Amino acid sequence: MRIDIVTIFPEMVEPVVRCSMLARGQQAGVLQIHTVDLRQFTHDRHRTTDDAPFGGGAGMVMKPEPFFEAVEALREQAGWVPARIVVTTPQGRLFNQRMAVEFAQVPHLILLCGHYEGIDERVCQYLATDEVSIGDYVLTGGELPALVIADAVARLVPGVLGNPESLQQDSFVDGLLAPPQYTRPAEYRGYRVPDVLLSGHHAQIARWRRLQRLLRTRERRPDLWQKVQLTPEDLKLLREAEEG
Ligand code: ADE
Repeated sequence: MRIDIVTIFPEMVEPVVRCSMLARGQQAGVLQIHTVDLRQFTHDRHRTTDDAPFGGGAGMVMKPEPFFEAVEALREQAGWVPARIVVTTPQGRLFNQRMAVEFAQVPHLILLCGHYEGIDERVCQYLATDEVSIGDYVLTGGELPALVIADAVARLVPGVLGNPESLQQDSFVDGLLAPPQYTRPAEYRGYRVPDVLLSGHHAQIARWRRLQRLLRTRERRPDLWQKVQLTPEDLKLLREAEEG
Protein backbone atom coordinates (compact mmCIF):
# COMPACT_ATOMS: atom_id res chain seq x y z
CA MET A 1 0.00 0.00 0.00
CA ARG A 2 1.14 3.50 -0.86
CA ILE A 3 -0.01 6.58 1.09
CA ASP A 4 0.85 10.10 -0.17
CA ILE A 5 0.25 13.10 2.09
CA VAL A 6 0.16 16.34 0.11
CA THR A 7 0.80 19.38 2.30
CA ILE A 8 2.27 22.88 2.48
CA PHE A 9 3.86 21.82 5.81
CA PRO A 10 5.88 18.66 5.05
CA GLU A 11 7.99 19.31 8.16
CA MET A 12 4.88 18.77 10.29
CA VAL A 13 4.06 15.41 8.72
CA GLU A 14 7.48 13.89 8.06
CA PRO A 15 8.60 13.13 11.65
CA VAL A 16 5.31 11.41 12.47
CA VAL A 17 5.41 8.99 9.56
CA ARG A 18 8.99 8.04 10.45
CA CYS A 19 7.98 6.70 13.90
CA SER A 20 6.49 3.65 15.51
CA MET A 21 4.20 1.31 13.55
CA LEU A 22 4.26 3.49 10.45
CA ALA A 23 8.06 3.18 10.33
CA ARG A 24 7.79 -0.53 10.99
CA GLY A 25 5.37 -1.07 8.10
CA GLN A 26 7.71 0.78 5.77
CA GLN A 27 10.73 -1.22 6.95
CA ALA A 28 8.75 -4.43 6.46
CA GLY A 29 8.13 -3.34 2.85
CA VAL A 30 4.32 -3.56 3.04
CA LEU A 31 3.74 0.19 3.28
CA GLN A 32 5.15 3.29 1.58
CA ILE A 33 4.35 6.73 2.97
CA HIS A 34 5.45 9.82 1.04
CA THR A 35 5.22 13.38 2.33
CA VAL A 36 4.68 15.56 -0.72
CA ASP A 37 5.31 19.32 -0.71
CA LEU A 38 2.41 20.99 -2.53
CA ARG A 39 4.69 23.91 -3.46
CA GLN A 40 6.61 21.62 -5.81
CA PHE A 41 3.57 21.88 -8.05
CA THR A 42 3.47 25.67 -8.27
CA HIS A 43 5.08 27.57 -11.15
CA ASP A 44 5.43 31.15 -9.94
CA ARG A 45 8.39 32.73 -8.18
CA HIS A 46 6.56 32.94 -4.84
CA ARG A 47 5.31 29.35 -5.05
CA THR A 48 1.77 30.54 -4.39
CA THR A 49 -0.76 27.98 -3.18
CA ASP A 50 -3.63 30.29 -2.16
CA ASP A 51 -5.58 33.28 -3.38
CA ALA A 52 -8.49 35.53 -2.34
CA PRO A 53 -11.98 34.04 -2.55
CA PHE A 54 -14.19 34.92 -5.51
CA GLY A 55 -17.22 36.79 -4.22
CA GLY A 56 -15.20 38.33 -1.39
CA GLY A 57 -14.99 37.39 2.26
CA ALA A 58 -12.32 36.77 4.84
CA GLY A 59 -9.31 34.51 4.45
CA MET A 60 -7.70 32.76 1.53
CA VAL A 61 -8.64 29.75 -0.55
CA MET A 62 -6.18 27.11 -1.74
CA LYS A 63 -5.75 27.19 -5.51
CA PRO A 64 -6.82 24.17 -7.57
CA GLU A 65 -3.88 23.81 -9.99
CA PRO A 66 -1.18 22.52 -7.56
CA PHE A 67 -3.56 19.85 -6.23
CA PHE A 68 -4.55 18.62 -9.71
CA GLU A 69 -0.92 18.51 -10.83
CA ALA A 70 0.22 16.79 -7.62
CA VAL A 71 -2.42 14.07 -7.87
CA GLU A 72 -1.65 13.46 -11.55
CA ALA A 73 2.08 13.19 -10.87
CA LEU A 74 1.58 10.85 -7.90
CA ARG A 75 -0.87 8.60 -9.71
CA GLU A 76 1.48 8.41 -12.66
CA GLN A 77 4.36 7.47 -10.31
CA ALA A 78 2.19 4.74 -8.81
CA GLY A 79 1.34 3.35 -12.26
CA TRP A 80 -2.31 4.51 -12.17
CA VAL A 81 -3.33 1.79 -9.73
CA PRO A 82 -6.78 2.28 -8.15
CA ALA A 83 -6.69 5.22 -5.72
CA ARG A 84 -8.80 7.03 -3.16
CA ILE A 85 -8.14 10.77 -3.16
CA VAL A 86 -9.20 12.26 0.14
CA VAL A 87 -9.56 15.92 1.06
CA THR A 88 -9.47 16.61 4.82
CA THR A 89 -12.09 19.20 5.72
CA PRO A 90 -14.53 19.89 8.56
CA GLN A 91 -17.24 19.75 5.84
CA GLY A 92 -16.49 16.09 5.08
CA ARG A 93 -18.11 12.80 6.10
CA LEU A 94 -17.17 11.84 9.64
CA PHE A 95 -14.20 9.44 9.66
CA ASN A 96 -14.74 6.05 11.30
CA GLN A 97 -13.31 2.54 11.41
CA ARG A 98 -15.50 1.41 8.51
CA MET A 99 -13.95 4.11 6.30
CA ALA A 100 -10.47 3.10 7.45
CA VAL A 101 -11.20 -0.48 6.37
CA GLU A 102 -12.45 0.76 2.98
CA PHE A 103 -9.40 2.94 2.38
CA ALA A 104 -7.07 0.08 3.36
CA GLN A 105 -8.45 -1.95 0.46
CA VAL A 106 -7.06 0.25 -2.32
CA PRO A 107 -3.35 0.18 -3.19
CA HIS A 108 -3.00 3.99 -3.30
CA LEU A 109 -4.34 6.55 -0.85
CA ILE A 110 -3.70 10.25 -1.50
CA LEU A 111 -4.47 12.65 1.35
CA LEU A 112 -4.82 16.33 0.43
CA CYS A 113 -4.39 18.66 3.42
CA GLY A 114 -6.50 21.81 3.38
CA HIS A 115 -5.66 25.16 4.99
CA TYR A 116 -6.99 28.70 5.40
CA GLU A 117 -10.69 29.01 4.55
CA GLY A 118 -10.58 25.82 2.51
CA ILE A 119 -9.71 24.37 -0.88
CA ASP A 120 -11.18 25.48 -4.21
CA GLU A 121 -14.38 23.46 -4.54
CA ARG A 122 -13.32 22.08 -7.94
CA VAL A 123 -10.67 19.99 -6.15
CA CYS A 124 -13.37 18.46 -3.95
CA GLN A 125 -15.81 18.00 -6.82
CA TYR A 126 -13.67 16.84 -9.74
CA LEU A 127 -10.42 15.51 -8.26
CA ALA A 128 -11.17 14.02 -4.84
CA THR A 129 -13.07 10.78 -4.34
CA ASP A 130 -13.83 11.61 -0.70
CA GLU A 131 -14.09 14.55 1.69
CA VAL A 132 -13.45 13.49 5.26
CA SER A 133 -13.66 15.19 8.67
CA ILE A 134 -12.11 13.61 11.76
CA GLY A 135 -14.56 15.23 14.17
CA ASP A 136 -16.81 18.16 14.91
CA TYR A 137 -14.10 20.65 15.80
CA VAL A 138 -12.00 22.94 13.65
CA LEU A 139 -8.23 22.50 13.41
CA THR A 140 -5.76 24.95 11.89
CA GLY A 141 -5.08 22.65 8.96
CA GLY A 142 -5.57 19.23 7.44
CA GLU A 143 -2.17 17.77 8.45
CA LEU A 144 -3.26 16.27 11.77
CA PRO A 145 -6.45 14.83 10.21
CA ALA A 146 -4.39 13.35 7.35
CA LEU A 147 -2.04 11.74 9.87
CA VAL A 148 -4.98 10.36 11.83
CA ILE A 149 -6.41 8.80 8.67
CA ALA A 150 -3.01 7.49 7.52
CA ASP A 151 -2.39 5.88 10.92
CA ALA A 152 -5.83 4.25 11.15
CA VAL A 153 -5.47 2.87 7.61
CA ALA A 154 -1.82 1.79 7.91
CA ARG A 155 -2.40 -0.43 10.94
CA LEU A 156 -4.96 -2.41 8.91
CA VAL A 157 -2.43 -3.22 6.19
CA PRO A 158 -1.28 -6.84 6.66
CA GLY A 159 2.24 -6.92 8.10
CA VAL A 160 2.18 -3.49 9.75
CA LEU A 161 1.17 -4.60 13.26
CA GLY A 162 3.39 -6.98 15.17
CA ASN A 163 0.41 -8.75 16.65
CA PRO A 164 -2.44 -8.81 14.13
CA GLU A 165 -4.76 -10.55 16.61
CA SER A 166 -5.12 -7.17 18.30
CA LEU A 167 -7.13 -6.07 15.23
CA GLN A 168 -9.87 -8.47 16.29
CA GLN A 169 -10.07 -6.80 19.70
CA ASP A 170 -10.34 -3.26 18.33
CA SER A 171 -13.09 -1.09 19.65
CA PHE A 172 -15.73 -0.70 16.93
CA VAL A 173 -14.98 -3.94 15.04
CA ASP A 174 -18.19 -5.41 16.47
CA GLY A 175 -19.73 -2.11 17.58
CA LEU A 176 -18.59 -2.39 21.22
CA LEU A 177 -15.84 -0.53 23.05
CA ALA A 178 -12.82 -2.56 24.22
CA PRO A 179 -12.72 -3.86 27.82
CA PRO A 180 -10.38 -2.49 30.55
CA GLN A 181 -6.86 -3.95 30.52
CA TYR A 182 -4.42 -4.42 33.41
CA THR A 183 -0.81 -5.48 33.82
CA ARG A 184 1.56 -6.07 36.76
CA PRO A 185 1.66 -5.21 39.63
CA ALA A 186 -1.57 -6.89 40.76
CA GLU A 187 -1.83 -4.27 43.51
CA TYR A 188 -0.55 -0.70 43.23
CA ARG A 189 -1.08 1.94 45.95
CA GLY A 190 -3.85 -0.23 47.27
CA TYR A 191 -5.61 -0.37 43.88
CA ARG A 192 -6.22 -3.99 42.96
CA VAL A 193 -6.65 -5.66 39.61
CA PRO A 194 -10.06 -7.43 39.44
CA ASP A 195 -9.69 -10.92 40.95
CA VAL A 196 -11.24 -12.69 37.99
CA LEU A 197 -8.29 -11.65 35.76
CA LEU A 198 -5.86 -13.36 38.15
CA SER A 199 -7.98 -16.51 38.41
CA GLY A 200 -6.71 -18.27 35.27
CA HIS A 201 -10.31 -19.22 34.55
CA HIS A 202 -10.50 -18.47 30.83
CA ALA A 203 -14.25 -18.81 30.36
CA GLN A 204 -14.96 -16.55 33.33
CA ILE A 205 -12.43 -13.99 32.10
CA ALA A 206 -14.06 -13.97 28.68
CA ARG A 207 -17.49 -13.47 30.26
CA TRP A 208 -16.17 -10.65 32.47
CA ARG A 209 -14.59 -8.89 29.50
CA ARG A 210 -17.74 -9.18 27.43
CA LEU A 211 -19.78 -7.70 30.29
CA GLN A 212 -17.31 -4.80 30.69
CA ARG A 213 -17.55 -4.06 26.99
CA LEU A 214 -21.36 -4.02 27.18
CA LEU A 215 -21.44 -1.82 30.29
CA ARG A 216 -18.90 0.68 28.94
CA THR A 217 -20.59 1.00 25.60
CA ARG A 218 -24.01 1.50 27.21
CA GLU A 219 -22.61 4.10 29.62
CA ARG A 220 -20.24 6.02 27.37
CA ARG A 221 -21.56 5.67 23.85
CA PRO A 222 -25.36 5.60 23.63
CA ASP A 223 -24.99 6.19 19.86
CA LEU A 224 -23.14 2.86 19.44
CA TRP A 225 -25.32 1.08 22.01
CA GLN A 226 -28.45 1.76 19.94
CA LYS A 227 -27.02 -0.33 17.10
CA VAL A 228 -25.57 -3.26 19.10
CA GLN A 229 -27.10 -6.67 18.38
CA LEU A 230 -27.30 -8.24 21.85
CA THR A 231 -27.08 -12.03 22.02
CA PRO A 232 -29.13 -14.06 24.54
CA GLU A 233 -25.85 -14.54 26.43
CA ASP A 234 -25.33 -10.72 26.55
CA LEU A 235 -28.82 -10.23 27.98
CA LYS A 236 -28.09 -12.86 30.61
CA LEU A 237 -24.78 -11.20 31.57
CA LEU A 238 -26.48 -7.80 31.90
CA ARG A 239 -29.35 -9.24 33.93
CA GLU A 240 -26.92 -10.97 36.32
CA ALA A 241 -24.88 -7.75 36.66
CA GLU A 242 -28.01 -5.78 37.53
CA GLU A 243 -29.02 -8.36 40.14
CA GLY A 244 -25.50 -7.97 41.63
N1 ADE B 1 -9.42 20.64 8.88
C1 ADE B 1 -9.69 21.44 9.93
N2 ADE B 1 -10.42 20.82 10.83
C2 ADE B 1 -10.62 19.55 10.36
C3 ADE B 1 -11.33 18.41 10.86
N3 ADE B 1 -11.96 18.41 12.02
N4 ADE B 1 -11.32 17.30 10.10
C4 ADE B 1 -10.71 17.28 8.92
N5 ADE B 1 -10.03 18.32 8.39
C5 ADE B 1 -10.00 19.46 9.11
